[in-house]
Amino acid sequence: MGYTEGEMIATASITEEILDLKRQRGACILAHHYQDAEIQELADSIGDSLELARKAKDFEGDVIAFCGVWFMAETAKVLNPHKTVIVPDHEAGCSLVDSCPTEQVRAFRRRHPDHVIVSYINTSVGVKTESDIICTSRNAVKVVQSIPADQPILFLPDVNLGNYVKKETGRQNMKIWQGACMVHATFPSRRLLKMKSEHPDAMIVAHPECPADVLAHADYIGSTSALIDWTIAHPHNEFIVMTESGVRFSLEKRAPHKKFWFVNNENCNCSECPYMKRNTLEKLRDCLRDLSPKVELSADTIARARLPIERMLAL
Ligand code: 13P
Ligand code: SF4
Repeated sequence: MGYTEGEMIATASITEEILDLKRQRGACILAHHYQDAEIQELADSIGDSLELARKAKDFEGDVIAFCGVWFMAETAKVLNPHKTVIVPDHEAGCSLVDSCPTEQVRAFRRRHPDHVIVSYINTSVGVKTESDIICTSRNAVKVVQSIPADQPILFLPDVNLGNYVKKETGRQNMKIWQGACMVHATFPSRRLLKMKSEHPDAMIVAHPECPADVLAHADYIGSTSALIDWTIAHPHNEFIVMTESGVRFSLEKRAPHKKFWFVNNENCNCSECPYMKRNTLEKLRDCLRDLSPKVELSADTIARARLPIERMLAL
């Protein structure tokens, strides 16, 4: 859909305001690949959850404007606690976070003290304080492989990522939480197959939060950045992309000559994350102006959540 002249002028003026506020605040803008194109356009760094955590940790200015979802901003705060971390929309949550309350993880820990808890980064900071090691979609296989083979594991909260990791590592004694991403878990394989029948030459790339019957058709499985990099580097010119459609921004920018097809999920008949899409240019401007919504965590929470994140980063 094109913009009217009026809309383009309004966007240009909000962009100017954001860049001014960014300079005044000594801020950097970190954006996840699922943000709207106009936010990614403005960002100092775009990345997957692991790359953005590393960027946040190394940032030396004053304010991190985190354009992503709340758990990602919490991770930034844990890794760089003396910085102000703001998010355009406080309600930018995640269905995986909602599927896994801290109390239930604490109760599991009490009942199964022999289990190592491997938590996907898509969890609340409270769950991280109860975890032994964190992983992201980029390194989940490597993290599980780093744990002795006979050690019982609880993997949480994503059932699809957990099943994928279990298959890749051949782990037997791994319990898996039954949470799911409301976007990826509802990509039906029949829609993927229909798309493939319409574009028979297209290769298929998929995020590991997709169900096993979708992953079974994938030529490549990886995190958002890994999918983008693989697709750009591959000599093939046509791809079906089984993840949130925000990745289209980097794909089309870096490989304008290639074709990318997205499959709609059953929830919204789109391929967008409603939480990620809560962040807008206007809200980004307002949060830089007001320094709010701001991530605030106690020193104790930061210290306890940092340990399992640092264990992952050390790998
Ligand atoms: P990435 O780790 O690939 O950025 O994925 C995060 C996410 O929320 C996927 O739905
Ligand atoms: Fe959470 Fe899924 Fe949205 Fe990623 S796409 S932030 S896992 S709801």
